[in-house]
Order: sequence, then C-alpha cells, then structure tokens
Amino acid sequence: MSATVVVGCQWGDEGKGKLTDLLAREMQMVVRYQGGHNAGHTVVVNGRTFALQLLPSGVLYHHVTPVIGNGVVVDPKVLLEEMAALTAAGVDCSRLVVSGGAHLIMPYHQELDALTERYLGRNKLGTTKRGIGPAYADKSARVGIRVQDLLDPKIFREKLDVVLKEKNLILAKVYNRLPLSASDIADRYLDEYAPKLAPFIGDTVGLIGDALAAGHDVLLEGAQATFLDLDHGTYPFVTSSNPVAGGACVGAGIGPLSVTSVIGVAKAYVTRVGSGPFVTELHDETGDLLVERGREYGTNTGRRRRTGWLDAVMLRQAARLNSLSELALTKLDVLDTFETLKVCVAYESEGRRYDRMPYHQTVLHKATPVYEELPGWQADTSAATELHHLPAAAKDYVHFVSEQCGVPIKLVGVGPGRDQFVRFAS
Ligand code: GDP
Ligand code: IMO
Ligand code: MG
Repeated sequence: MSATVVVGCQWGDEGKGKLTDLLAREMQMVVRYQGGHNAGHTVVVNGRTFALQLLPSGVLYHHVTPVIGNGVVVDPKVLLEEMAALTAAGVDCSRLVVSGGAHLIMPYHQELDALTERYLGRNKLGTTKRGIGPAYADKSARVGIRVQDLLDPKIFREKLDVVLKEKNLILAKVYNRLPLSASDIADRYLDEYAPKLAPFIGDTVGLIGDALAAGHDVLLEGAQATFLDLDHGTYPFVTSSNPVAGGACVGAGIGPLSVTSVIGVAKAYVTRVGSGPFVTELHDETGDLLVERGREYGTNTGRRRRTGWLDAVMLRQAARLNSLSELALTKLDVLDTFETLKVCVAYESEGRRYDRMPYHQTVLHKATPVYEELPGWQADTSAATELHHLPAAAKDYVHFVSEQCGVPIKLVGVGPGRDQFVRFAS
C-alpha cells in the first residue's frame, strides 16, 4: 500500500505536472485532490506540449487510472473540452473517473469571481477568474452542487433554484448585473454535460481505497502550492483549497497513514502570479532575465509571472507543513547564465532576523531578504542526464539548497522535456 503526494512548495508552477508525469511511469493511479482549472500543469513529450488543467498528469500513460478526487472543483464544460482536445491529440481519456462528491463550478461562480475582483480594485487578489473561490465558498456554505447531482435532474434543479435566487439578488442588487436563468443553466448542465460525463462519474473513495488495499501505487497530484494554501499560505492572497500534503487525504478520501512519501517541488528560483507578498521579488533586469530564460508566463492565463531569488525560509516551512520526504528542484537550467546566484536564508524586519516564516503577515510584507551569494556555473546544463554532467558549482548550489531546507534533493530539472531530470543523491 503506497500513496505518494506531489506538492508545490512555492506559489505554484514549480513543475508539478512534469514531475507527476515522470513518477506516473511507476504508478497505477494518479489522483488530483484539490483545485480546479486554475491549475495549468505542463508535460512536454517528444516536443509536444500538453497543458493540463483538470485531468491528472498521469492521463498520458495507458497503464494509469486518472482520477479527479472529491476535493476538486469541476467546471464540466472545461473538463469535456479538455477531454475532447486530448482525445483529438491521441490521448485515451476513457479510464478517467470523476468523484461524485466533487463540487461543480457553476456560471455564477465564474461571474462572481470576476465581479469580486473588480470590486476589490487595487486590493484584488489576482485570481484566475475561473470561479474557484466562489465554488469552494458555496461548498463551505453547504449550497454547492455536486457532480453526483448531474445524475439526478430533480435534485439538481431544486438545488439550483434555491441557490440561484440568492445569487441573482447579489448579481442584481450588489453588482447591477442581469439575473441568470435557472432553466438555461439546468438545461445546459443536464442535457449537454450530464450525458457526456455520466460514464466517468464514480465512487473514487472506494476506487482509491481498493487500489491501495491491492498494493497498487497511487500518486496524489497537488495543484497550486503550499504558499497558496487557504490555511498556510499568504492569506488572503491564496487559493480557496488546501494544496498542502494534508489536503491530499481529505481531497482524495484516504487516511493519513496511507501516505508513504511526500515529494515537494520547487523551482531553483521563485515565481508568483497574482497579488501578495514576495520577499525575494526582483524588479530589475535580473528579474526580467528569469522571466525570459524561464519563459515565465502563465500556462493557461498567459499572465507574466513575478520572479525572484530562491527563498530557503519558504522551503523550510514547506518541509515542515508537508512532511517532505524529498524535494525535486526544477528549472536549474534557467540559472545557467548567471555569474552569481543569491539564496535567501533568512528575513530581516525592524532589526529582527527571522529564520522561520513569520506568523504575522505584516512582517512578511515589510521583510527584506538576507542573502547568501553563490558562484554561478555559466555553462549549459540542459543536456545533462547524469550527476557527473553537471558543473561543480551547479551541484554545490543544489547541495546548499538541500542543507538550507533540511530535505534531500533527489531530482533536478534541467529542461521542460519529460526526461530532462538529473538524479541526485543528496
Ligand atoms: P505546474 O503548474 O507546477 O505543473 O508547472 P507549470 O507547468 O505551470 O509551469 C512550469 C513550466 O516550466 C512549464 O512550462 C514546464 O514545461 C517548464 N519546466 C518544468 N521543469 C522544467 C525544467 O527543469 N527546466 C525548464 N527550463 N523548464 C521546466
Ligand atoms: P498550478 O497548479 C500559480 C493563484 C492565482 C491567484 C491565487 C488565487 O498550475 O501551480 P484562484 O483562481 O485560485 O482563486 O486564484 O492563486 N493561482 C496559481 N498560481 N499556479 C497555479 O496553479 C495557480 N492557481 C491559482 O494567480 O494569485
Ligand atoms: Mg501551472
């Protein structure tokens, strides 16, 4: 019985898709446990790029059962489009199982996400405007509509009627928008989406539990990341779910003792999309160079990512919060041209040094980084496949990061391709 969690250790886009794809070779099942199509997970296979939003990155292998767990929020239109696009690209999606307990993203969620952002003005969170926050809010408020409700038109219409009354009042009275029609929405969800999705809806808790009991290897693929976690991230500049490893148990429906290993993913530097504190952020040409060399634009939204030096304070916190067994450090190749590199080892604020993530957000907003400088290697690492192919300075950088966060780094990414990983034993 073995469940492995893949979890982002920064603010997302660390390369979880690529790592999941690599690990999925040895897995029988890959499960998405939270988030929705705010995620964009890139897998590059033989020069072909797949940008997955809702489907687990293991879908590209025939031997893997891809599962969308109860903790995910599902926009059925997006899911069907993604399945159609993958099928057209020759990927077999027929093994997909979607939890009946997952919540649906409804048209009013997406509209309210965009309206709230506009209402917040310069305090906006910079969400992906996909309806994620409003869908999870309705789940907590117990007025959400679930995937299983697609299979029961009477229940679906009843729930929609109740919830839409309130949503339409908000849309009209708060935001001066036109009301939405319950029958239009119900017709679309029940007549168009439900028949197409019905064959894929199932009891994922039973399925995952049986797989584990049968001794299969199950990979739990996190979306977003530790510092976008609703409880542990830089609130309120977070997403509305729990990407941390603990969230995998809730969002897939397994007990904590089933998890045998937790693999963190971090970039060799840091990026962030959307608003919120970012202690090591660079607003200079070094930051621009990271954007350019790392192609730091959102996988699905196309937004330019903010960039900065690697932050070991964040990684130490991520190691604790997720019980990391190991770390995969991606995009080392992006640092190939730099003469010197900086790693933030602590924060400083109002004369005080913080080696650990300060609990009070105000400190984080004001903190300045304490850097250690390391020599760059100024050599192309993208063709490296083995440890001895890497320059000594590159290996030293990896070892330094590993020591700083107290977690072994076993895989280092040197390019977007499926096999562009170097195995380390640190
Ligand atoms: P995810 O959301 O964590 O799955 O990450 P994304 O796919 O959104 O963003 C990571 C980006 O970096 C994608 O474009 C990947 O193809 C790319 N990538 C992943 N690992 C590496 C690496 O080691 N080197 C380089 N140069 N690119 C990488
Ligand atoms: P993957 O899985 C990076 C960010 C948004 C915004 C905040 C809240 O590809 O790493 P939301 O739409 O979730 O309510 O937005 O979270 N965000 C991500 N940033 N990668 C992601 O996913 C993200 N998903 C959400 O930019 O700041
Ligand atoms: Mg991404």
